[in-house]
Formats: sequence, C-alpha cells, structure tokens
Amino acid sequence: MIFGAVLAGGFGTRMHISSMPKQFLPLDDKPIIIHTIEKMLTCSKFDAVFVGINPTWASYMNDLLDNYELSEEHIKVVIGGENRNDTIFNIIAGIEEEYGENDENIIVTHDAVRPFVTLRIIEDNIEAALKYGACDTVVPATDTIVVSHKNDIISDIPNRVYMYQGQTPQSFNIKKLKELYARLSDSQKLVLTDACNIFVMNNEEVKLVQGEVSNIKITTVNDYNIAQYLATGGAESD
Ligand code: CTP
Repeated sequence: MIFGAVLAGGFGTRMHISSMPKQFLPLDDKPIIIHTIEKMLTCSKFDAVFVGINPTWASYMNDLLDNYELSEEHIKVVIGGENRNDTIFNIIAGIEEEYGENDENIIVTHDAVRPFVTLRIIEDNIEAALKYGACDTVVPATDTIVVSHKNDIISDIPNRVYMYQGQTPQSFNIKKLKELYARLSDSQKLVLTDACNIFVMNNEEVKLVQGEVSNIKITTVNDYNIAQYLATGGAESD
C-alpha cells in the first residue's frame, strides 16, 4: 500500500507573526495545510493520507477538514512527535495500527508548509520509493554553498556541481526505514535533522527525484509573502 504523510506537528517559531502554527495561516483563499492536503489528494495512488499534528491543534485540524469537506476523504489525523522524525514515526505507528504491517508499504512524507508540490513530484517519489526503497526531492543549488564550522570563517567551498537543496517529499519503504532507524545509536538519532539521513548514516542509497524551485518551504515571513504572491497568480498578472 502507499501512504501520504503530511508533517504538521511543528509550531512555526521562526515565523513570528501569529500564535497559530504557520501551517494554519491563510494562503489566498484557504489555510496553507488545506492547499497541501488537496495537492496530496490529486494523487490517486494513495490508499490513505495521514496528517501528524501537535495534540493542542488536533481538534482544530479536524474542524478544518470538516469545513473544507475533506473529512469523508481517506485522511486520518494522528498526534505528531517532539521533532519532525518523531512525527514520521508516529504516523507510521498510526498506519500500522489501522492497516497492519507489510514489507512493501511505502510512505511519502511531505512538509505541511510546502503547498506548491506538484502531482509530477509526488508520482516520481512513489515510483522511486517503490524501485529504490528511498528517495529525496532536490533542486540543484544555484548559489555557491559555503561551509563554516565555526559560523564566522569559511571552512570549505564545495564544488557546486555536486550541491543540491533538499525539499520534500521524501519517500521510503516503511519496513526499511524502521529497520535502519533501529540500527542508529542515540547520539546519531540526536543529530538527525533529516529523515533521508537515516539511510545515509547506514550507507544505504537514496535516489534523487527532481523537485521544482517553486516547491518552497514557508519558514519565514519573507517566504510567506512569496507564497501569497505565487498562490494568487502574481507572476501571471504582472
Ligand atoms: N514538523 C512536524 N513535527 C515536528 C516539527 C516539525 O511535523 N515536531 C513539521 C512542520 O510542521 C513543518 C515541517 O515539519 O511542516 C518542516 O519543519 P519546519 O519548517 O522547521 O517547521 P516548524 O518546526 O513548524 O518551524 P520552526 O522550526 O520555525 O519552529
């Protein structure tokens, strides 16, 4: 089976404009998270789409699904975790509670705050996860990437040809993801900021899927302003 996982357990602390987590802020005519869920639902290959939410906001999320007439869809709200990876594993627990375990099951994890993902990206993820067991959505880095270990002087300037910027979805064979995570030490788990790193730290391959520059993550107020512009078709009307 193939499952979508919308990661919405965060609070959006870098946004600084509302006490409401950024995924609930309006974008054009509806909340960011509703745009994202609707994008996931354009893919007919999902058996179900799970949404991981902080417990404080779970009933608000369920109300939103009602208001946008999405409660009848194959969407399940589960409680998110302390960090992003915990939210992924809570969703996996929810999937297995409801649908059982299967060696072939695939999860397509996607940030709730990337509403501009496309059907092409989602379907490429599913294909790559089925074939390779893990994939990450990326775009080639256009800026030069500068590394600074001390955060004040340059340590390295890697060749840009090999540099990419990571987006989501990131998609995995669920059984393999769980097995590889169980192999990591506690200190390795602590430095994990990215689910694909669970594979990389275990020397397992992760296939690259081509993203889109427009598949932005809304992190700051500046991103939010750009997202409003994209959502309202600003570029076309100029
Ligand atoms: N996320 C999650 N569970 C967490 C933390 C984050 O599902 N415990 C989700 C966020 O809701 C978001 C995505 O992961 O959709 C990307 O993370 P980020 O942009 O860092 O979101 P926040 O943690 O909400 O933002 P901030 O770091 O500014 O607080």
